Amino acid sequence: MAVMDFLIPVVREVGTLLLQSLGNAQSIQFKGRANLVTEMDRRSEDHLIRAIRAQHPEHGILSEEVGALPGGSGQPEWILDPIDGTTNYVHGLPYFCVALALRDGPQLQAGLVYQPYVDELYSAERGHGAFMNGRPLHVSATPVLDDALLATGFPGDLSRAEDTNIEHFLALMPRTRAIRRLGSASLDLCNVAAGRLDGFWQATLPVWDVAPGAIIVEEAGGQVTDFAGNAGLYEGSIAATNGQIHTELIEILQRP
Ligand code: IPD
Ligand code: CA
Ligand code: CA
Repeated sequence: MAVMDFLIPVVREVGTLLLQSLGNAQSIQFKGRANLVTEMDRRSEDHLIRAIRAQHPEHGILSEEVGALPGGSGQPEWILDPIDGTTNYVHGLPYFCVALALRDGPQLQAGLVYQPYVDELYSAERGHGAFMNGRPLHVSATPVLDDALLATGFPGDLSRAEDTNIEHFLALMPRTRAIRRLGSASLDLCNVAAGRLDGFWQATLPVWDVAPGAIIVEEAGGQVTDFAGNAGLYEGSIAATNGQIHTELIEILQRP
């Protein structure tokens, strides 16, 4: 049995719950000027944590809203984002997901991302490929940046951000077919894995925004690095592509 299988019914159940309150979430709080959290983020998180704890009481958990729940020494750690795309969710835009990864030391072992509105379940386990609803996923074959459709994200509060991403956006806009800002880093990564996007980049992302989708991209044949081209880092400044346009993309991202 694949390591994430026990979570599939749980993420589906959470997805149904989230759809019931799409655009209608109560008790919206602000973690920053434009960084929202709702009761639904916490309910999703509770469900996921309870399911993981029941199956693997000795494992650690790192989840966006509750933070770190340490496990036994040397035990694997689950990384969770209970809703990735909360701003979309609050506004009733259905581009949001539930995202989880399993990490053993620095190595990502598996990832699971579910977008309930379209009932798309993405999964990957190291060395076993990436899948969407059970069908194998492959990155696109787009050979050059000129023909590429990219996605990116911006920090919530541009006035406080060290890297606003505006310069990179302006530099890449005329070098690509188009750039989208869709609002869920995990789904953007899954869409790179599915070959719908040719690449994604964003600066200063936390690990729960990167790890679930990153292993899915890698197992779909893509490449995930920081802006300097280093692989194996799943937080911070991230570039994920079909591999073919990677050098061209990070050549531009390396410029300040
Ligand atoms: C956000 C989304 C968004 C990205 C932001 C993240 P959240 O996550 O992934 O696409 O641009 O940087 O914070 O807050 O919806 O979990
Ligand atoms: Ca997130
Ligand atoms: Ca979140």
